[in-house]
This record gives sequence, C-alpha cells and structure tokens, in this order.
Amino acid sequence: MINPAELDVLRAALEKLETGFAGLPRFTPEFDVDAVADVLQQVAIRMQDNYPYFHPLYAGQMLKPPHPVARIAYALSLWINPNNHALDGGRASSAMEKECIVEIGNMFGWEAPLGHLTGGGTMANLEALWISGRLRPGRRIVASEQAHYTHERICDVLGIPFTAVRCTPEGHMDLSHLDELLNRGDIGTVVATIGTTGFGDVEPLPDILERARASGIRVHADAAYGGYFTLANELDDKARAVFDQMRDVDSIVIDPHKHGLQPYGCGCVLFRDPTDGRFYKHDSPFTYFSSDELHLGEISLECSRPGASAVALWATHQLLPPLRGGAFSEDLDRCLRAARDFRSRLDASASFCPLMQPDLDIVVYAVDAADTATASARAKQLFRFAAEDKLHLALIELPAEMLRSYAPGIRVNSDTVTCLRSVLMKPEHQDWLDPIMTILEQGVRRLT
Ligand SMILES: Cc1ncc(COP(=O)(O)O)c(C=O)c1O
Repeated sequence: MINPAELDVLRAALEKLETGFAGLPRFTPEFDVDAVADVLQQVAIRMQDNYPYFHPLYAGQMLKPPHPVARIAYALSLWINPNNHALDGGRASSAMEKECIVEIGNMFGWEAPLGHLTGGGTMANLEALWISGRLRPGRRIVASEQAHYTHERICDVLGIPFTAVRCTPEGHMDLSHLDELLNRGDIGTVVATIGTTGFGDVEPLPDILERARASGIRVHADAAYGGYFTLANELDDKARAVFDQMRDVDSIVIDPHKHGLQPYGCGCVLFRDPTDGRFYKHDSPFTYFSSDELHLGEISLECSRPGASAVALWATHQLLPPLRGGAFSEDLDRCLRAARDFRSRLDASASFCPLMQPDLDIVVYAVDAADTATASARAKQLFRFAAEDKLHLALIELPAEMLRSYAPGIRVNSDTVTCLRSVLMKPEHQDWLDPIMTILEQGVRRLT
C-alpha cells in the first residue's frame, strides 16, 4: 500500500517550495508533535475500517486510487493551501487550472472552452443544467432512466421540469420514447450519458444530436464516468462514433476524480460556447482586485475551491498527458480488455449470466437461479462470501424484466433483481482475473 519513496519525493518537493519564500523573516508554525502523532495513530486505526480500494481485489464500485503524482502534488500544495476562487487566493494554482481546462477541452476537439473544476460530477452537472435552463427558460430537460439520479434532483433544485426517457429491456436509451417526448415540443435539453453509472453504457449521441439539432435543442454530455475513454484505442465502433461526436455537444461534464487518477473533489464542467460565461457574471465586493486577468470565481458557482485539486491534476497531466496513444490511454485500454475478458469468462461459466456487453469497463452479472427472487438472494450471499475471501464486489438493483433478454432461463417472479456489478477501473485488473474468477467459483459452491 505504501511506497516509502512517495514520502521522500514529497519532502524534497516541500524543501524546493520553501526556497521560494526564503526572503521572509523566519517563522516556523509550532505544533505539539507528540499529540499530533497520537491523534494520527487513532486516525490510522479508524481508517482501517474501509474496503481496500487501492487493491485489484477491490472490484466493486467506481473507486480508483489517485496516482502517486496526484497524491503528492495535492499534499505539497496544502502547505500553501491555495483557494482557486480568485487570483488573490491562488495565483499559481488558478493558472494551472486554466491550463488543465484547455487540455481537457482538447480531448474533445475544443480549442478554447469555457470551464473550470468543481467539487465533483454533481456540481459540474448542476452548472451545466443551470446554464441550459437559462438558455432555454421554462423548457424541459430529459435524461434516460439509466442516467445518474443527480439529473432529476438537480432539475428539482433548479425548478426545471424533468422527464426520464425510458430504456429498452436491454437497458439502453429508447430512441422511440425520446422521439415521443420531442414531439411534445417542450424540451430544451437532452442529457446524453457517456458511460452510465450502472453499466458504463455509452448512449447513442449521434442519434440524439441529429434529433436535437433539427429543433434547436441543447445537448449536454454527462461524461462524468466515461469521458476519458475518448483517449482509448480499443473502443468498439459504436462507442468510437459517440466519442468522435462529443465535439458537437453544448456542454460536457467529466470527472478527473473518476478515471483521471485524482483524489476526490475534482469534477469538471466545460461549455463549447465561451459566451455562456455571461450568466455567471457577478460582482464581488471582497475579491477580484488583485488582477484584471480572469478570476475563476467569476465563471464558477462555487466560491472557495481547492487549488490543491488543480495542482494535483496539472502534475498528473505533466507526467501522463491526456493524449491518445500515451501511457494514460494505454491504461484505459487495459481496463476495456479486463472488462471484456471478465464478461467472457462469466459467460463461459454455468453459474453466471452477464448482462450488457460492456462499452467501457463495467460488468453486471446475475447469479444463475431458477427465478429472479432466488437470483437476488444468491447475488447478496455471493457478495458476502466473496468479501470473506477478500474479493470486494458491488450490487445493483435492476428491473427484473431486464433478465428476459439477458438470461431467459431465469423466470421473472419479482419486480426487481439484484445483480453483481464490477467496475474494473484499475489497469491491473486485467492480471487479476484468474484469482477473481477462482474466488467467485468458490463462493458459488457455498451458495444455498
Ligand atoms: C454518469 C455520472 N454522472 C454523475 C455522477 C455524480 O458524480 P459525483 O459522484 O462526482 O458527484 C456520477 C457518479 O457516479 C456518474 O456516474
């Protein structure tokens, strides 16, 4: 878990940072080292109560360890603790954030997007839908049933009417229902999820854009989970076509704290049209005096924001530029391969019924049983047995009807069915599929 070199690198960087302030009169903040050490021992004990997110045998939720370069840069910046609200509070880190925004925009073919980092995907989507509401006042926002629940909640917060677009029994956005909704004539924005939370499904952006453009409707891409996969080489043709059209949407959300190797607290919202920034316009009696250059608070709903997030992301971009064909994108391809391989192995096993073919790196699988109620009970049992053997999975509750297409042998006798779900976000997952399958099969033998 701990590579001692990390702490050496941090110390050396801190010493370098300090030389920049050598002209100041000497001042060393005092603290009670023994008392702090004692508290930190307690913290370490409390933090043992966690799943081992950093280990490849954690194959459950969307949790990816930050890269050491991000972790060290984040920690280093805390000795300054910059605030990216205004240049008054974080000059260097604001400049780093602006560079990162351009680099993330470039991933989608945008040269000079308006954008900034946020606390996460929820805040980023809130800002995107807020701008949508301002540009299409009174108009409805629609997103598929498999979109993140945040869209409906955000619309509630913003007072914007919301409707869910039905999904097909296979779990994809139902375009015929989208057409029905569009025909009603009150839609202002369609949300396309590029990597749904449950399945990693890449929604059919070319079809959505074609329909929306014909009627002046905005398209927002919630690529909080899947956005970085635009850099991957091994996407299938359908997903590649979607990512290639992301340049045509109006706004994009992407979470560096998901596949971008960042600590939590790092989402990002981008707008294709920089003039959307006019809606953020406000005065601040307290800040914005130190420079005529853009203060990021002028284009962000949050006031104080951690400069540390920008520093960590900038450092990561130096080491692993977000470009196609580099080490970063190769790791994404390894995740794609891990998911495809894992799904094939589950398919070959008599004990599992995998659902949707993964577009990205998420695999959902039912445990074979005579009916959906028993399949649910077995999935929950297997979740526990696997954890006893140190393999950590996630569960997902789905409409039981979904199994009619993916597992017709399982009789539907309940409204919903519980399935297992594995997000294979670590490139190393590819090398751990043998032990993962062994533990799963061992668990199956214990099922009642
Ligand atoms: C597609 C999608 N959108 C939005 C979110 C919310 O992002 P956050 O948890 O960073 O607020 C998630 C989180 O899983 C997501 O998968």
